[in-house]
This record gives sequence, structure tokens and C-alpha cells, in this order.
Amino acid sequence: MTQTPSHNAKALARPVVLGIETSCDETAAAIVTADKTVLAHRVLSQIDDHAEFGGVVPEIAARQHISHLDHLLATLMEDAGIGFDDLDAIAATTGPGLVGGLMVGVMTAKAIAQATGKPFVSVNHLEGHALTVRLADDVPFPYLLLLVSGGHCQILSVTGVGDYTRLGTTIDDAAGEAFDKTAKLLGLGYPGGPAVEAAAREGDAKRFTLPKPMVGKPGCDFSFSGLKTAVRRLAEDCVANEGVLTHKDRADICAAFQKTLAACLVDRLTRAIALFRVEAGSSELPFVVAGGVAANSYLRSELETLANRENLKFFAPPMALCTDNGAMIAWAGLERFMIDPTINDMDVSVRPRWPLDGDAKPMVGKGKKGAKA
Ligand code: KG4
Ligand code: ZN
Repeated sequence: MTQTPSHNAKALARPVVLGIETSCDETAAAIVTADKTVLAHRVLSQIDDHAEFGGVVPEIAARQHISHLDHLLATLMEDAGIGFDDLDAIAATTGPGLVGGLMVGVMTAKAIAQATGKPFVSVNHLEGHALTVRLADDVPFPYLLLLVSGGHCQILSVTGVGDYTRLGTTIDDAAGEAFDKTAKLLGLGYPGGPAVEAAAREGDAKRFTLPKPMVGKPGCDFSFSGLKTAVRRLAEDCVANEGVLTHKDRADICAAFQKTLAACLVDRLTRAIALFRVEAGSSELPFVVAGGVAANSYLRSELETLANRENLKFFAPPMALCTDNGAMIAWAGLERFMIDPTINDMDVSVRPRWPLDGDAKPMVGKGKKGAKA
């Protein structure tokens, strides 16, 4: 890793924080400053390395992070025009995620922290998603958050940095997982979300009706595995009737799937909004969507309609900050550093499982390593 001249550093709004994200299949890093400037931002996607396997292979992901992170950081510092010594803190995702990848990012961040004498800040990946909206907009606490990614699907009340209450979660698949599995079933490739969204744009959402798991039930939890099974049956019926799954069949199934999934989210959110209003003691509150699935335009527009109906102010991060990126980790690290400038998490290790709301009962993957969701 090379040092670059720091002629720009003096004018920067401090703190200046480097964030490293390696929890899944994106090698990403960014530098953000206290005035919400993203000084530099790099994401190296491993999609091509995993595509032939139809999903992320942890071994391959870890090796790719090792191969690319040093070079990515060197170019990032060049883009920013500052050196490592000009940073105030170095943040990295310590969990939840794939252990091999997490270790690469965390060891690199700790090495930079050790070499420069700057603090290392441990960031929960989900907290990165949860706070990103505050990097893009001035969203005050408390807010209601729908966190929809490849590994998680939760509704949370966000009261402050590190202060989350889970109102609902998936009892099986995450929303992004449902998109990915649907895409795989229909032969649309990986990652599934963008492929299903593109196919749905050409489809007729009224041709097929899919079941809406959990809709109308008490509580705010989700279930998406039944939806995936129903998609499989639809595809099999099409093949049985027509001998082949046509381009139009695929598009119509995707449109029905996307519409149904959004309707399930809206139903659960309607209940969560009522709970949140009581908890927060106010009716006009921000409503935020975050995570990879928040990049879905159809879902964003359905959520905006819900927010208008419920008299809530709707916020969604810019598209590039929805899927995994380094800026969300840098920003969460910066928020933590601002609260406690003496922070130094050098003794924190990686955690494959790390729920945001530690008090919530685990719904999925209860085990030795802790709650998965
Ligand atoms: O937040 P993220 O990048 O990684 C995790 O933390 O899991 O989310 C990735 C997920 C994948 O399941 C991907 O298919 C989904 O987000 N995704 C989308 C879209 N873009 C990404 N889902 C629906 N529509 C999209 N446009
Ligand atoms: Zn993520």
C-alpha cells in the first residue's frame, strides 16, 4: 500500500474515516468526512467469480478479497488525494457475514490502524445499512427502518446509533434471497434481484396470482419460502402446458413475484407503523428503506405510496448505496467515532452472526454462534 500526498487533508471536515467492507462478495472501501462528503468510493464486485455456482462460494470470496483489497485501497487513497496518516479512524465490517472475508477486511483495517496509530472501529454490517440514509439525507432519530438485503429482512425501530428494536423479521428466507432463488429457478442468473426486476418490467403482473404468506396475520414477521415454492409450481405448470418456459412466462412470473413480495412487505409494515407510532409517541416520523433490495424501483415506489398514505416522510439511500459498499461502513464508523472519540476496537474479533437487536428472540438459525436473524 502506497502513501499519497496529503495536500488536500487540511481543508477536510473532521473526522475523516476509511471504511472497509468484505463481509460477502463485494470488496469495497470508501472515505467519508463529517460533512457527509464521500471523498472516494470503490467497489469491486465478484459477481463473475460466483455466477457459475449460482451463489456466493465463501472460499472463493475470501481469496478474491485477499487478492484485491490492497490494490483497491491504494487506488482509493489516490482518488481521495490523502494518505493513511490523514485519516482519523479506520472502520471495517466485523460481522455478520462470511468469516474468511470478514477476516481479510478486519486484519487489513487493524494493520492500517496499528501502523498509523489511529483507532480501529468495528462496524456491524447491518448497522452500516441502517445508518446509510443519514449519510445521504439529514434523517433524525427515531425512524422506522425496513432492512431488506440478501441475508436479512427486518423491520426495526432506530432510536439512535447502536439502539435498535426489532419489530418484525423473516421466519425463513430474506427478501433478497427470495429474489435470488426465483431468478435461479427461472434461469435468470445471479444475482437475482436486478435480473428479476428487469424481467418484471416487461411482464404482466395480473396473469398469475401468487400466495401472500403471513398477510393479515398478527405481528410483523415475514415468510417468503412459500412464495418461492409457488413460483416453482407456476414455472412447472407453464412447462407442462406449453412444453417450454417462454420469455413471456418468465417476465409474467417475475412481475407477479415482485408485486406479491412488495404487497407482503407493505402489509407487515402497515402493522409495524402502528406499533412504531405508539413506541415513538409521534405520528409524523421518517420511514426508511435500506439494503440491497432497496435498489428495486418498483418496491421503492410501493413504499413511497405507503408512506404518503400513512403520512410518514419516506427516505431511501441513493441506488449505489443500497447494495454493499464501503461508504456505509465508513459512515457508521464515523457516527460511532463522533459519539466516542476515544473508541478503539482493536480487541474485537469477527462475528459470523450478530443481530442488531441483541434482545430479540432468534427466529432463524438459533445455535452456538448466536442468532442469525
Ligand atoms: O445488501 P446487499 O448488497 O448484501 C447483503 O447484505 O445481503 O444485498 C444483496 C441482495 C441480493 O439478494 C440481491 O439480489 C438484492 O440485494 N438486490 C435486489 C436488487 N439489487 C440487489 N433485489 C431486488 N431488486 C434489485 N434491483
Ligand atoms: Zn448488505
